[in-house]
Amino acid sequence: MSSPPRLHLVGHPTDEQIEAATAVCVRAFQDETAVRAMSGGDAALAHLLFASMLRTAREGGTLHLVTRDGEVLAVGLWFGPGRKMFATEEQRRLGFDVFMARLSPAMQGWWKNEYGKDVALMKSDILGTDGDLNSWYAQVIATDPIHQGKGYGGMLIQEARRLAREDSSSLALATTNRDSASWYEHQGFTTLGVRRIQGSPVDPQLHFDCIFMRFDDP
Ligand SMILES: CC(C)(COP(=O)(O)OP(=O)(O)OC[C@H]1O[C@@H](n2cnc3c(N)ncnc32)[C@H](O)[C@@H]1OP(=O)(O)O)[C@@H](O)C(=O)NCCC(=O)NCCS
Repeated sequence: MSSPPRLHLVGHPTDEQIEAATAVCVRAFQDETAVRAMSGGDAALAHLLFASMLRTAREGGTLHLVTRDGEVLAVGLWFGPGRKMFATEEQRRLGFDVFMARLSPAMQGWWKNEYGKDVALMKSDILGTDGDLNSWYAQVIATDPIHQGKGYGGMLIQEARRLAREDSSSLALATTNRDSASWYEHQGFTTLGVRRIQGSPVDPQLHFDCIFMRFDDP
């Protein structure tokens, strides 16, 4: 008989854990336009991007894994108050620099001069100056598609709520998917604002919305 799923806080994930959690993220975000835009439509680069994000758990990120018998079922990556993903050289050295170097010059320009700047402006506009820095900010929430609908995503949110209550802060995030925004609302989040990203070197017609959400526990 298999054991019940468990949620772990993984301060220093092993390479095997990063690999398994990355595979979950790649499967969960397989059809996501935003991931296509960010990775230039290259599946190998999408893999590198998720791995580089998850490795920041070794440099200030907070990684939660829901596992059962060693299998990773769901992944949550958060940054607590005062912390931010890829804000330090040490974090970027864990894979983001390699990811960027592998992008075409046009994609590198888009990340630096368009996407990166647009998202920073949207964040401060909607969440307020340093709104992400004052919250527990989610960078990745994903459940393996074959295990969705079993409560594992909810476990990730419950644990983040507990952390936010401990330091009297809130949860915040941006999602690029209407279905997941509706799921977050079901979890108790409120939608604060929506902004559109239009075009990327991979496809000038491509667009996706960034839906900014917050959860303040009463
Ligand atoms: C969003 C996601 C993380 C949810 O994870 P999950 O493990 O399937 O979620 P849970 O099983 O904990 O949620 C089940 C609950 O949500 C409800 N629910 C499911 N989909 C819903 C939706 N689209 N809108 C509203 N409620 C929804 C279910 O009815 C159930 O409710 P209950 O607990 O009251 O019975 C998962 O679907 C996913 O990985 N999606 C792709 C990646 C993604 O978009 N991530 C979020 C953006 S960063």
